[in-house]
Amino acid sequence: METILIPEIIRKKRDGHALSSAEIQRFVEGVTSEEVTDAQIAAFSMACIFQDVSFQERTDLTLAMRDSGRVLRWDAQLLGGPVLDKHSTGGVGDTVSFVLAPILAACGGFVPMIAGRGLAHTGGTIDKLEAIPGYNTAPSEDRFRAAVRDCGFAIAGQTADFAPADRRMYATRDVTATVEQYGLITASILSKKLAAGLGSLVMDIKVGNGAFMTDLHVARELSDSLCTVGTQAGMPTEALLTDMSQPLANSAGNGLEVLEAMAILRGEISTGRLYEVTKALAIRNGRQAGLFQTDQEGAKAVDRALASGTAGEHFNRSIAAMGGPMDLLSNPHHIHVAPIVKPVYAEEADWGKYAAEVQTRQLGLAVVDLGGGRTRAGQDIDHAVGCVDWMRLGAKANRETPLAVVHARTEADFARAAARIRGAFRFTEETEETAGPVVIEHLTA
Ligand code: URA
Repeated sequence: METILIPEIIRKKRDGHALSSAEIQRFVEGVTSEEVTDAQIAAFSMACIFQDVSFQERTDLTLAMRDSGRVLRWDAQLLGGPVLDKHSTGGVGDTVSFVLAPILAACGGFVPMIAGRGLAHTGGTIDKLEAIPGYNTAPSEDRFRAAVRDCGFAIAGQTADFAPADRRMYATRDVTATVEQYGLITASILSKKLAAGLGSLVMDIKVGNGAFMTDLHVARELSDSLCTVGTQAGMPTEALLTDMSQPLANSAGNGLEVLEAMAILRGEISTGRLYEVTKALAIRNGRQAGLFQTDQEGAKAVDRALASGTAGEHFNRSIAAMGGPMDLLSNPHHIHVAPIVKPVYAEEADWGKYAAEVQTRQLGLAVVDLGGGRTRAGQDIDHAVGCVDWMRLGAKANRETPLAVVHARTEADFARAAARIRGAFRFTEETEETAGPVVIEHLTA
């Protein structure tokens, strides 16, 4: 067979022609074998930015990237339930995974969750798990598989042999201003989810000033791409667009978010934005995978899983199976807390006024200021620091109600974070209709 030359593939894309499956496969194989250079990845990605990538090309790229490394295969019949997961585009206080996965496990599903680290102002599930003493985020495949089988879910970090073509392409896109291409984003996210062997997926697409996407139209366009391509690639995919114009959880910071998730699993919190989004995702996930026939049935099952403590039991078992404490849920003191815990209040001039807007990204960056996130890849982080009890939009500022309670390592860190938090809120004399619904839209392929 005639060899397809890599520069010809790039040229074809550059000139606006659609690539065949064979050409895409050839390019991705070249990326994995390192025959394709970083410069060629950059040129290809930039050509995609200018010429776009059709849905067929996106599907071919997704499948080729999935097959560039190890692909987990699960037998849903042997397991006794469907293999499913969600993926979030990230935000501040997005600690859904720690509640959702045990709920789905309690409802009869199996969740092999391959998660990532924090990026910029957003937290990462793997960093949060590392707040749990002993938890192994890089287990062997056998241990991961056993935890999923026995506990209904397990969460681990992405290893180098999962979609390695994506790893190279993403790293090059990151430094060549080519991340923002829906086709490339779609293939990057879905190839990893397909490599985890999922039967179905729900995307949680965050929209608002704490998310990577602030515009609803853009979020819809990406959702359409993910739902269509995921479904075409054999993994039925749906999306919920959810609000990120204020933090999702009442906390932000690695250990603090795990503690909040645990409070939901213990049944101590059954309202609020985090609870609502988690429940909506659980219902969608469960309906899509056939665990529930109607939303009402799903809602009841989710309530039961939490109220009966079954979701909590799955959580404890999975944490222990991955090397964490056996009794984390009943003994949250395993998670370390920071030495300085102090409230930060609005400026006196704003007392009596209402919180009309908050720059959520700045709140995430306050956690980074505290040492709870990274300013460069590979940096160590402090799992104990962060903030709790965010002031919600529409609430009134005064001398008793803080904007947040900061958990800091030092007084200087506290002062820096406090200044950033104060600067992030805008207050008005009258209350404004600011907080819209937290679940905005449901989209399918
Ligand atoms: N997250 C990913 O995993 N890939 C992208 O391309 C963008 C966000």
